[in-house]
This record gives sequence, C-alpha cells and structure tokens, in this order.
Amino acid sequence: MPADTIAAMTHTRYISTPIYYVNDRPHIGHVYTTTVCDVFARMQRFLGRDVFFLTGTDEHAAKVADAAAERGLTPQQWADQNAAEFQQVFDLVGITSDDFIRTSEDRHKDRVTTYVSALLKTGDVYLGEYEGWYDPGEEEYVPEGRAAANNFKSEISRRDLIRKKEKNYFFKLSAFRERLIAHFEANPTFVQPDARRNEIVNRIRDAEDVPISRTGAGGWGIQVPGDDEQTIYVWIDALFNYLTTVDTEDRRKYWPCNIHVIAKDILWFHAAIWPAVLIALRNCEGYDWVELPKQIYAHSFYISEGQKMSKTLGNFIDLEAIQSHIDTYTLDALRYYLAAHGPLGATDANFTIAHLHEIYSSDLVNSVGNCASRVTAMINKYFNGEVPSESPGDSRITFDGYDWPALTQQAVIDASNAIERLDLATALECALNVIRKVDVFINDTEPFKLAKDESPEARQKLGAILYQCAEVVRIASLLLWPACPGKMESLWQALSLDIDPNAGDLCGESAWGRLQPGSNASKVALFPRIEAPAEPATTAL
Ligand code: MSP
Repeated sequence: MPADTIAAMTHTRYISTPIYYVNDRPHIGHVYTTTVCDVFARMQRFLGRDVFFLTGTDEHAAKVADAAAERGLTPQQWADQNAAEFQQVFDLVGITSDDFIRTSEDRHKDRVTTYVSALLKTGDVYLGEYEGWYDPGEEEYVPEGRAAANNFKSEISRRDLIRKKEKNYFFKLSAFRERLIAHFEANPTFVQPDARRNEIVNRIRDAEDVPISRTGAGGWGIQVPGDDEQTIYVWIDALFNYLTTVDTEDRRKYWPCNIHVIAKDILWFHAAIWPAVLIALRNCEGYDWVELPKQIYAHSFYISEGQKMSKTLGNFIDLEAIQSHIDTYTLDALRYYLAAHGPLGATDANFTIAHLHEIYSSDLVNSVGNCASRVTAMINKYFNGEVPSESPGDSRITFDGYDWPALTQQAVIDASNAIERLDLATALECALNVIRKVDVFINDTEPFKLAKDESPEARQKLGAILYQCAEVVRIASLLLWPACPGKMESLWQALSLDIDPNAGDLCGESAWGRLQPGSNASKVALFPRIEAPAEPATTAL
C-alpha cells in the first residue's frame, strides 16, 4: 500500500447518533439524525478516512419492562421486536452504520459494570440518600420548583406526588464544574451550534451531584456492582454505549469520538454529564486513553406541517409516511431533503409535503436531473452516445470565464471542508452550484446551434463543450453521492464509470479529465418530474 494511502487510513473519524428508546416507534426524527450521520460517514469514507459510524437502541428504560408486561412478553422480547424495527427502518433509508449497539447486549453490560466499579473505587460514584417529590406513574423525581408549580400533583396523571426518600448511588458531578467549564473555554467548538453553548455553561456553574441508580427495576437493567437492589439509571447506562462499543483491542483507535450528533432535547446529558463521567473515568487505573469527545453537535427539531408532530393532529411522520414519501419521490430525494434542508442549525425546521415537493423540483428535477439528461441527450444526438474529447489537438479547448478544472477543484475542497463542520447544506450546494453553472455555460456556448455547423472546427468545439459539461456533472455527482447514492450510481453506470467511494479516493476521482473520451454515455433521466401534491398537505399524511 502506498505511504500516502496509509497516512490517509490512519485518519479516523468516529461519528455517533443517539441510541433510540425501543419503546418509541421509529419516526422521521430518528431517521433524520441517523441520515445526517450517514451522509457524513459516507463522505468521510470517500475522503479516505477510517470511519466508525455507530447507532443503536437504548433498552433499559422502566417503560420497556411495563410495556412488555402489558403484552405478556419479557422485557427482552419486547426490546428485540422494537430494536429490529429500528434496524429495518435504517436499512430502508440506506444507513451504512458500522455497528448497531443494543444496551441489553452482554458486551455493553459487562463494560458498564467495569466502568461503574472503577468509579466506585475512586469515590466519584458514592452511596447517598435522596429525598424529593416522586411521581410514581412516571417513575421519576420531580424537581421542587416544578412540583410546587403543579400543586404537588403529577403533570401527566394529575395524581398526588409522594415524598420519597431512598438510598441511591450518586455521581459527583459537582466536583467537575471547574474542569468542565475550563474544557468549554479551551475548546470553543466543543458544543455546536454556538447558540447552544451558553445555556449549558451557565447550568454547569451550579450543577449538583446526580443520582445514577434506582431501586425496584425488577431485574431489567444493569445492576450496580456489589448491590443487587440497585440498578444503574438508564441515562448513565445509555451514555456509556459510545465507549463500550469501541472499548476493544481493534476499535480503541477510534476514541475519542469526533462528533456525537444528537438533538437539543438531550444536550445536558451529552455536554455536561457525559464529559464529567469521562473525566472521572480517565482518573481510574487503565483508562488514561479516555479523552473527551471532540464535539457534541445538537441540532434542532423537525416540526411537521407547521406544528409539533402528534398522532392526533395526523401530522406524525411515522414509518408509513416515510415509506409513502419514498414511494412518491424516491429514497434519494428524501435523503437529499433531510440532509440539505433539515434542522441542523439552531432553529427548528418545518417538514411539509409542499416543501419536499418544491425542493425535489427545484434542486433535483430542474438542476441535477435536467442538466444530466440534457448533456447525455446531446452526446447521444451529436456523437452517437460516445463521449467526445475536449483536446482534439495537443491542448484543451477552453472557454472564457469557465476554468472548469479550477472551479470543480474548488467545489470539492469547499464541500469537504463543509462536511467536516457537518454543514451538509453547504456541501451539497457546492455540487448544485457547479451544475447550475453548466446550464449557464450551455446557454452561453449554444451547442445546439453549433451542431448545425459541420466544419471540423465547429465539431471539435462542440465536442469540447459537451465533454466539459459531462465532466462537471461527473465531478458534482461525487459530491452528491453521500446524500443520493442510488441515483448517482445510476449516473455512473450510464457514463460507463467504475467508481467505488469506499476505496477512499475522492481526491483522485475528482481530478479533472477522468471521464474517458470514446467511452459510452447513455441518456439518463434521474429525477422525473412529479405533479404537485393535489391534496392539502395535512390530509395527505
Ligand atoms: N435514548 C435517548 C438517547 C440516549 S443517547 C445516549 C433518547 N432517545 S429518543 O428515542 O428519544 O431519541 C431522541 C433523539 O431522536 C433526538 O435527540 C434526535 O436525535 C431524534 N429526534 C427525535 N425527535 C426529533 C424531531 N422531531 N426532530 C429531529 N430529531 C428528533 O433520547
């Protein structure tokens, strides 16, 4: 293997999604975060990085045991059924994760036990007593302020809260305040987007120790080592998944995780508790390799048709709705819509059928699809489907204002940089920009007029124009592939190209001139025009 390839291979990228509660049915929110990570992972592999992309399910919630009991199943059977559903959805949307962790697996449980034992030894986890207002229906303590505001009644069932005192294991979060704040100061991009940082730092300033165990879990969950009455709280158990999965001889190289992608709902656990637990673990013997993750990226939420998703409103984007969007627009279109127009930034995004349709039509039908079909159709019409040459003599025929090798090179550089920042919209826009420029180029150079002139000069010029159009489309397709793999692979087939993104050579593949003159180019119709949805969007769901 050449030295530069080896150098590229040692560049690891570890990206994770949250692990999803098995009690929920998969919906667009889960698919969104996972697709974002998938686009990142695919592009990083194409760039030659050694990627580890992790997703999975969070299974030890008390609700899982309750829901299983209602159905006459064991918690494990219920978790198995639902975890399989998440795996199926992720297969459906083309997720290329490298592992799927389930917290009920032994590999996870064993390591969590080891970590908690180590933390008990150093005293960062200790046995204490907790007293507070408890909501028996929800199985959770309600903070004093919220309990008082609700007249000491459950927000959910409206039944009386009870004053409860119990022995619990605590994590000494308060001991890590200064170290956490120092870490935030030294690493300004630790939490992204920027807007999310301050709320966390302010909350850390007066963070108290947190209970990390509970009693009465009926055997569902991971026991606190040495205490068979106490079960490790589901959140601590879940956060450890990011480490348990890679805490093996061959995977430790991936740690620290480059980017934990989550939504804003679970930022506190990821940006305060998780790093503090890791700092504590790092102080334990044998764990000096446990550095902090490089970044926690907390995106915003999807709302649907202008409102919070809800079953009763009929705007819940569940598996059936996802399937119907795929049937209408294709999987690649849905992935593109999520990646380029989702709530990655600090504001929520509105998923509407009308918007999906509009983006499909403007970006995919009118830009990418139209350009690819126009160019391949002209190659067929004027050159019998054989890719012409742009250099009939010794040198390339060039056109003022269109330095395509430089323009495409810049697009690849900009897209790669944007991906590194998880700015998927910009990365995809780099591809669309050069494609839109091809349309302008065609209008400027008017190949259809030139085709009427049969002189050798005119034929050569026509050949050069069409070669350049096709070569730009080819290079743009490499950048679109992480979001639209199926459609881009069909385009490569039509252009007789043999490209394997997993070989990690985006750099070589995107070099100008890889498209071979003389090779076959069939006509393509990548994204067919679709009639606007006739029904009002809310009822169409
Ligand atoms: N099990 C915990 C996470 C533990 S991670 C160590 C959990 N699970 S969850 O099933 O509720 O998933 C929450 C995540 O799903 C969010 O952080 C986000 O990634 C995704 N989404 C759920 N609803 C969403 C939207 N409406 N919009 C976008 N993403 C959202 O919390």
